[in-house]
This record gives sequence, C-alpha cells and structure tokens, in this order.
Amino acid sequence: MSDRLIIFDTTLRDGEQSPGASMTRDEKVRIARALERMHVDVIEAGFPIASPGDFEAVQAVARSIQDSTVCGLARALDRDIDRAGEALKEANSGRIHTFIATSPIHMKMKLRMEPDQVLEQAVHAVTRARKYTDNVEFSPEDAGRSELDFLCRVIEAVIDAGAGTVNIPDTVGYNVPEQFGGLIHNLRERVPNSDKAVFSVHCHNDLGLAVANSLAAVMNGARQVECTINGLGERAGNASLEEIVMAVKTRKDIMPCNVDHLDTTQIVPTSRLVAGITGFAVQPNKAIVGANAFAHESGIHQDGVLKNRETYEIMRAEDVGWTANRMVLGKHSGRNAFKTRLKELGVEFASEEDLNDAFARFKELADKKHEIYDEDLQALVTESGLEAENEHYKLVSLRVCSETGETPNANITLRMNGNERAAEAPGSGPVDAAFKAIEKLADSGAELQLYSVSNITTGTDSQGEVTVRLEKGGRIVNGQGADTDIVIASAKSYINALNKLMAGDERAHPQSGDV
Ligand code: KIV
Ligand code: ZN
Repeated sequence: MSDRLIIFDTTLRDGEQSPGASMTRDEKVRIARALERMHVDVIEAGFPIASPGDFEAVQAVARSIQDSTVCGLARALDRDIDRAGEALKEANSGRIHTFIATSPIHMKMKLRMEPDQVLEQAVHAVTRARKYTDNVEFSPEDAGRSELDFLCRVIEAVIDAGAGTVNIPDTVGYNVPEQFGGLIHNLRERVPNSDKAVFSVHCHNDLGLAVANSLAAVMNGARQVECTINGLGERAGNASLEEIVMAVKTRKDIMPCNVDHLDTTQIVPTSRLVAGITGFAVQPNKAIVGANAFAHESGIHQDGVLKNRETYEIMRAEDVGWTANRMVLGKHSGRNAFKTRLKELGVEFASEEDLNDAFARFKELADKKHEIYDEDLQALVTESGLEAENEHYKLVSLRVCSETGETPNANITLRMNGNERAAEAPGSGPVDAAFKAIEKLADSGAELQLYSVSNITTGTDSQGEVTVRLEKGGRIVNGQGADTDIVIASAKSYINALNKLMAGDERAHPQSGDV
C-alpha cells in the first residue's frame, strides 16, 4: 500500500455547494492555481452538468492546471458523464467522479430504485466514464448509512468495471470515528478485489467529526482524503484540508502515510484567497488558519514559548504560511512589478485592458495606502473580477454624513444599465443609510442576512473587507467589497451581492433526486 496520502480538494465543488459560496469561472481558476502551488493531487473543479457556467469553469480549470489532476462530478447518468468528459477533454490529467446513493433511505425515498437497479446503474456509469478517461472514481453516496453487504457488492462491481478510486462518503456526517474506521477496514477486508482500487473518504462535519472520521479511515487503509479549504461545504462543511494535512504531517510518528509532497506554506495564503472570494470568513479560533491559531495570550504560555517554542507549539506558524504582512508594492511600483507579483500569486490577466484596469485601481489604492500587501492585491483582483462579470449596478459615488447627535444620511449615485441615478436616505448609522439609499434605487426586495467587516492587513490604514449576504426567493448570495473606507467597502459589497442576484445562474444540485 502506498505511503502517500492523496489529497483530493473539493472546495470548488462541494465547497461551492454552501449557500452563497458560488464562484465565478475566473475565481475558480485562481483557487485551482493556488491548490496546484500547494501540490494538491486532485482538484474537483465542479459539476459540469449543473449549469453552462459550471461547465465552463471546469473546462477553464482543466485548461489552466498542469500538475494536479482535474476532476469533474457526474451523477450516474449518461448525460452527466458525457458532459463531464467533454469539460475535461483538455485536461493534462482528468478524472471523472461518478456517484449514486446506496443507503436504504436514499434508494427508496430519493431515487425510488431497487438496490439491483442501483448496482446496475453504478456499473454502467463507471463503464461509460472509462470511455473518456482511465481515471474514474466512484462514490456510493450516503455510504455511511448503507448496508455493508450491499455496499461490498457495489464496490466489487465498480472496481471490476474499472473504477480506480472508490470513495466512501459520510454524506450526512452521521458516523463516529471508531465506526467509520471500522467500515473502511471491513470494506477492504471483505471486497475481494479491494487491492485493485485506492480507498478514499469524504466526510461531512454535521457532528464536528469530519476530520476525526477521515483520520480514522486513514488509520484503516484509506489513501485518499476528500477535503476543502477552511472546511467549506454543504451545511456544517467538509473535512478541512489544512487540518487533515497538518495532522498527518505533525503526527508522522503514528500515521501510516505521509503528505510530504505538499507545500504546506501555501495553506494560509490559499485559505485567505478562498475566504476572500467566497465571503466565508474564517473564525479566529479555527485550527491552523484562524487568526489566533498561533497566538499566545496568557503570560505562562508566552513565557514558555519564549524559553522554548515547543513547550506550547506543536507546529511552526511559518510552516503553514503565516508570515508577517509583507510589503510588496508601493506608490512608485510600476506596471511590470504589479503584473509580476500578481503572476506569482496565480493571477494572470485575460487581456491588456483587464491589466490596465487593475493597475489603475492599484494606483488609486496606493495613493490612499502607502504600503500594499499581497492581501490587498488579492482583494483588488477579486473586486475587479466581480465587477467585470456582473455590471448591472456600479457605484459612481457615495457621500455619507455622520455626526454625534445627528441622524446619519447617505447620498448615493449608481450607474444602472448605463444610466446614472441618485438617491438619498437616512439610517441608524452610516452603513444603514448607505444600504437604504442603494435600496431606494434597486428596490430588490432582498433580505439582509449577514453583514461582517474585517481588516485585510493590520493598522488603521488597512482596507476593510466587507461581506454582505442577501436572500431573495430562496436564493442566497454573498457580496464582497474592500476599501480603506469601510462605509464605501460596505456599499460595494451590497452592490456586488445585488449584481449576483441579478446574474442568477440557475444551477442543478448534484444530490437532488432526479436521477
Ligand atoms: O457528500 C457526498 O456524498 C458527496 C458525493 C457526491 C461524493 O458530495
Ligand atoms: Zn459531499
């Protein structure tokens, strides 16, 4: 059995299934490049049948990535598999991941199929996928609640049909570590051809056990783990990549395999990139990538760490990419330095016009803020991309008056479908007034579900990064905006969310019932 643990990242697919976390094609390419820099083995880029946008995103990732395998998800349906095969045609190394549910409840209530029909469809799907690529993965969805005998039959049959990877999902996050580890052990023992496939696991975090379950599976012979950056994913999320990777690396002494091929210093920059793009902020006490993960507040801890860091630190912050904010560019930096630094961060511009636009924004920012860090550049590019793709509403100007004892008031001008329109509104605070003024013009009827502000770098001249979550008719979108003025950042994020609502790319959900 291999010593190498295969890291399969599904931030761009299962991560994107978090309400409001949908990403544009270019955003997916940027995240995929960051994952490739980390040397992640497999990048699941999306679900190509879901929508034309998803198809194009998987295709674009397949074209841009050279070293990692790019994977597309497909239900066990001919049309899904053909679409995935088409999207991955230009991948240097492509994988089709096909799945069908095997638990009694899913087969009966969702699929309305008999177990034998499910088995037949699983084999058919793998056989069809093999027409496109030798690299096929099969998942028995809801394996964590499936009957062992049936699961063994399905797995044996799909391996015979040519699945090189068999992924065992705990789709609803129901399992506990000992049981889940035991399941992997039993499957490997009982399935006669189990040595012909790599066993993989895919754990959801509903009981907060996704990482523990994945590690229990690794201890029992799983050699691929499916995970996401920051643990993003459906409901309570998926197993977090950074926690899995650092647990395997830090506890080398007891692990049966390694992640030595990964560049773990890319973890924090990638985490920030994903948080910035999706608007899903990382909680400060999150392991590995939370702002406090390596901060020692108590005197006893500080004293210990100063004498010998290993007294309280099991990992080194720099090994996961925590560095002091690095000043990379300033007011006098030229276009070439700007372009080169962004290239190092994985951003390449589609045209000279895009580069010029981003450079103009950079100069504006450099006028307000003398030191520009990598994080500022990431925010700037995210914003340019968002505006370029969704231009229904654009902020022209905003003026907000706020004074002790007075009601704050906002005057806003937006460009709406090419025409400039202005509105004025009072509010309980400057942000409230700005949002009310925007709504006077947009009249979206959307409900504000979340408003959060964080600083991109340190210092009072830092840009504020704002996330706004809007809900309308069951659709949830996140908007982002960054500026050294947090009221302007707030208005930008609100407008960005409205633009996403307007764009309305309807997508099918992979785990919906229509097989
Ligand atoms: O959670 C799940 O079962 C999935 C499958 C599609 C692998 O995401
Ligand atoms: Zn999942």
